[in-house]
Parts: sequence; C-alpha cells; structure tokens
Amino acid sequence: MEPSLHVVPAPGFGRASAGLLLSRAERLARPVIGLPTGSTPLGLYEELAGLAHRGELDVSPWRPFAIDEYMGPRQHPCSNHSYFARHWDVIAGAPPVQQFDPEAPDPDAEAASFAARLSAAGGLDIAVLGIGLNGHVAFNEPGSSADSSARPVLLHEESRRSAAACWGTETPERGLTLGMAELLAARSVVLLANGESKARVVARAPRGAISPECPASLLRLHGDLAVVLDEQAASAL
Ligand code: PGA
Repeated sequence: MEPSLHVVPAPGFGRASAGLLLSRAERLARPVIGLPTGSTPLGLYEELAGLAHRGELDVSPWRPFAIDEYMGPRQHPCSNHSYFARHWDVIAGAPPVQQFDPEAPDPDAEAASFAARLSAAGGLDIAVLGIGLNGHVAFNEPGSSADSSARPVLLHEESRRSAAACWGTETPERGLTLGMAELLAARSVVLLANGESKARVVARAPRGAISPECPASLLRLHGDLAVVLDEQAASAL
C-alpha cells in the first residue's frame, strides 16, 4: 500500500506533523499513542503545547506510551524519561507517558511487562515515529523482522553515534524498544522525518525495497501510513 506523503517547508513541519496526528486522534475517545523522542518531534510537541495552552486541544484523555528508551540512568538528561519531562510533561493537561524502566534488573521481563501494559490498553491506536539514519524505527535496528516484539536490543553503531551527541562517553550500549509487531499493529502510523541528513534514508524507506535491513520500509506493510517530510528530507525522493 502506498503511504500518504506530505511534504512541507521546514518551518511548517511541526504544524503538519501535529495536523496528521490530530486527524487520527480526534476520531478516538481515549487514543493510545506511541510517542517518539529525538530532534524530529520537537516541533510536534511545541505545536501541541501551543494548541493546549490556547485551549484549542485537550490531550488529557490521551494514553501515551513511549516507543523506546535507552538502558541507562533514568535521571540522565539524555534519557527518554528526561526528554518527555522537558517536552511532553510541559503540555497543559498532558497525562504521564507510560515508559520502560531503563534501570530494570531484568530487561527481558521489563520488555514483556511493558508489552503487556500496552496490550491491556488495547495496543497502539497511533504510532508516531521518527526514523534513524540507518532506517531504524524506535530501536528496531537493521535486521529487525516485522514480527519482532518488545525487547531489549543492542544499539547499532550508527544509533550510538547519534546518541553520543548527547550522551558522550556515557552512551548506553543497549535499549528497550517496542517491536515492529507492536508498531505495525497500530491502527495508524505517522512517520516523521526532517532535515537534509535524513534525505538518503527517506529515499530508501518509502520507495526502496521492503526489507528488515531498513526497518522503516516495513511500515509500508501497514494500511494507514502517513509520512510527513520537510523539503530537505524529501530532497532525494
Ligand atoms: P532524531 O532521531 O529525531 O534525533 O533524528 C530519530 C530516530 O533515531 O528515530
């Protein structure tokens, strides 16, 4: 199935991302939404914060779930816990994000328990995803199959390189992630990419071969995939 592709000028990226998410969320009373971290969704969270602040959006019924987390100290400023504290919890009325415990002594059990919590909530209604330079979505690194489920993972070298921009020498080697199975089971998938550095992988994911080597390409197996790109990320399409 062809994804619906939305290419916008860079300054409109956050607003367009929010528009796509809201068009899916507003159909549902208490949507379960998978949320990404990183630089890509910053404009989205800013847009949601502005709408909520002006009383134009009520996110309080939403049920947000983090899609991944580094295995490292929860309080570290580069953890996803800290990211959501900075960019999500500041949205008026935002309910707390359900998150993996990054310090869990038994990561396999933690992944299973997080998957069970998500499943008890009915699974994802909407998966909002960024894309890594290596084609990962959440921490589903190259080689992840469409039926992979929530699990601890070794971070790919390229993911660690990107993470090192924040974590430096403390960059974790492992992460916890929802699997491709939980992401593909979402009713809707909204994939976001911006900036010139993503142009190469964006040219592969929505157009190239569907293969575990580029996990984002597996999203094309989904019947409701919307891709939001800024013009830079779309420049190699
Ligand atoms: P970024 O990360 O938004 O910081 O580029 C995206 C990702 O790795 O999923």
